[in-house]
Amino acid sequence: MEIIISENPAEASAKAAEAVKMQILAKRSSVLGLATGGTVIGLYGKLAEMCGRGEVSFKKVSTFNLDEYVGMPASDPNSYRSFMEKHLFSKIDVDRSNTHIPDGCAENIRAYCVQYENKIRLCGGIDLQVLGIGSDGHIGFNEPSSSLGSRTRVKTLTEKTRADNSRFFGGDISKVPMHAVTMGIGTILDSREILLLAFGEGKAEAVARMAEGPVTATVPASALQLHPNVKVFLDEPAASKLANKAYYKYVYANKP
Ligand code: PGA
Repeated sequence: MEIIISENPAEASAKAAEAVKMQILAKRSSVLGLATGGTVIGLYGKLAEMCGRGEVSFKKVSTFNLDEYVGMPASDPNSYRSFMEKHLFSKIDVDRSNTHIPDGCAENIRAYCVQYENKIRLCGGIDLQVLGIGSDGHIGFNEPSSSLGSRTRVKTLTEKTRADNSRFFGGDISKVPMHAVTMGIGTILDSREILLLAFGEGKAEAVARMAEGPVTATVPASALQLHPNVKVFLDEPAASKLANKAYYKYVYANKP
């Protein structure tokens, strides 16, 4: 796990955007795994700017989002389809038919989850997966106790996650759905490269447990320790509880 600590979220997002750009420049038909949430908005803004300047094109890129709320129609302003449209898809040259977001309204959701996994496989697997992290250590909506081998399925959200996300629902936790379709931890670990972004003090504990704690289903993000190609982009507050922070900075400054 490579831990890259920046002064602020803007600087960290710019570094993460550069890593996404390098992936697409190396393979025009890259398959990207995408996340939603407050953390990735800056990254998507940078990618849109790069695309606008002609530095990178998403024309041949395919995308698979991590998750969607169960029962949330794509047309709802709180759906992750709406989020992706607003923050990224409407600002880049991606072909909408190559963008995939789990359907939270699928009639047979179990069968749908299997199909979603198959679609990822048929596209050749995810080259680069973008992740945030929940303050409870979740990745995607894989909440604590999720199997580290899990695949796309429905999960019940923790109260903490629903409280954290209530800011997108006018602060009303009762409006935050209880269930979500999410790629599993096994699905995420199949990606060839992973970029995880985390900003702010509220994420510091989860980040420290992810990077320096034991690998445990209690902290789903700790499963990333098993992946050979993970870059973690943090601002100073999110890095504040890392015991080996000075070492990570030293490693980054002296990269071979
Ligand atoms: P956030 O969510 O970016 O809105 O903090 C991250 C996550 O829950 O994975």
